[in-house]
Amino acid sequence: MSTLQAVKYSRGKLEVLDQLRLPHEFHYDAVSNRTEAFDSIASMRVRGAPAIAIVASLGLAVELHNDGLPVESVEDTIARIDDALDYLKTSRPTAVDLTNAINQLKAKIRAPENADKTSIINAFIEEAELIFDKDLKTNIAIGDAGAEWLQAKAGASTDSPVSILTHCNTGSLATSGHGTALGIIRSLQTKGLLRHAYCTETRPYNQGSRLTAFELVFEGIPSTLITDSMAASLFRTKKATANIAAVIVGADRVVRNGDTANKIGTYQLAVLARYHGIKFIVAAPTTSIDLETETGDGIKIEERRKEELTQITGAVIRPDGSVDESSKVRVATADQRVGVWNPAFDVTPAELIDAVVTEKGPVEKGPDGSFDFSNIMPERW
Ligand code: MRU
Repeated sequence: MSTLQAVKYSRGKLEVLDQLRLPHEFHYDAVSNRTEAFDSIASMRVRGAPAIAIVASLGLAVELHNDGLPVESVEDTIARIDDALDYLKTSRPTAVDLTNAINQLKAKIRAPENADKTSIINAFIEEAELIFDKDLKTNIAIGDAGAEWLQAKAGASTDSPVSILTHCNTGSLATSGHGTALGIIRSLQTKGLLRHAYCTETRPYNQGSRLTAFELVFEGIPSTLITDSMAASLFRTKKATANIAAVIVGADRVVRNGDTANKIGTYQLAVLARYHGIKFIVAAPTTSIDLETETGDGIKIEERRKEELTQITGAVIRPDGSVDESSKVRVATADQRVGVWNPAFDVTPAELIDAVVTEKGPVEKGPDGSFDFSNIMPERW
């Protein structure tokens, strides 16, 4: 099991790894209330759909544990917690895990057995801790289900291990541990079914290069980083020799028909995979599924500031390869006056997706060409 942890928690104390400083610097920020949780998420010091939901839930749990609430009645307590959750929901719009966690927490504090302020707060804290603990088990189940699917449907075997391309970061850093798409890659590696992992997302946020490449090296998984613009050439030149069997990505929101929002650049990989006869798999917990939105057209895509494209943080590399943190500086990569469109996510149509692998197992399209997630969704949503 990896020891990389995006989130460290014990009751009353939450620390969140600042992912903007990776891979050169490991620094945990203390997150002790809703405002600090909001800032951590909005600034992308923590990111990844499951990790966002976990930090929002635990950030408020820590505040409630340490500071309580300046009200007494059941109605006022519930109203104050609802306000805090509604505020946290506005931190980032695309990933649905946060909304699902908030709905779960709101339902929990309304349970009839919570008859006074103390029991409501305790119920909130326990539910937030449950969300955190459950995510790790979920990811391990996704990893195993995905590896089995690749054995059955893509010919992965110990005699014929497969290569996988993954986009963005879906590993321990984006979750409570193990990861979703990267969790499948880990499981393949453990079972001797992985030949090589390729990773992308080298702009705009460099989550493939800064985070996934780092996790792959940390785990000792044979891996190669390519820029997003190299994927077509990779498939054309190495599909046969490297036995590239699948592109596996995570998800920020999978809607009712299977259309999937994920980090920008995912859609073009799905198009390329289809053209080259390579499977395209979405790995996501059921907390990333949104049955209330019918198609991808209903997903709100976050657009971020232009400086993410026109600037980058640079630092001096010492002769021994280490980075001089004190030399860090923002560097221009474009004319600062240029117009920029910077959507953080895109939507891959269900048509291009071969399977959505959740902790309940893989879901494939039915004969009518659409996904049906109704059987695997928890009843509480
Ligand atoms: O903008 P981010 O980094 O929060 O985006 C989320 C992601 O890391 C990816 O889209 C990921 O593939 C899905 S979350 C496991």
